[in-house]
Order: sequence, then structure tokens, then C-alpha cells
Amino acid sequence: MKVVVDTDRCEGHARCQSFVPEVFRLGDDDQSHVLMTDIPDNLRTRVEEAIRLCPRQAISWVNVA
Ligand code: F3S
Repeated sequence: MKVVVDTDRCEGHARCQSFVPEVFRLGDDDQSHVLMTDIPDNLRTRVEEAIRLCPRQAISWVNVA
């Protein structure tokens, strides 16, 4: 599984960065950028929380083959 941000939905609310700065970083474009694609087990719970709390529902898991 890999985490992705839908740039069409992201409006720069930055909750993701607040919850998991190791994974999400707001860019100058006011969009969240994913810093690491493979999320280690110790960060998964916080990533789940960021997914749940994003007001734009812009973050999701995707399956990678
Ligand atoms: Fe964007 Fe949601 Fe984060 S709107 S900046 S992905 S909290």
C-alpha cells in the first residue's frame, strides 16, 4: 500500500502535515506532498488519522502491484 494526495481535492488545510510531518509536507503551491511512498508500520496509525481528518478527503491508500 502506498499513500497518495489527490491534488484536485487538496486545499492546503495542512492537518496531514501536523499529524505526520514525516510523511506530508505542504509545498509553496499550498498542496500536500508525500515525502515517502512506503509507509513504515510505526507511522501507519497516524497516517490513518490524517486520512480521516483531512477536511477535503484528499488522502487515500492505493494498492501497488
Ligand atoms: Fe491537503 Fe487535506 Fe492535507 S486538504 S494539506 S491533504 S489536510
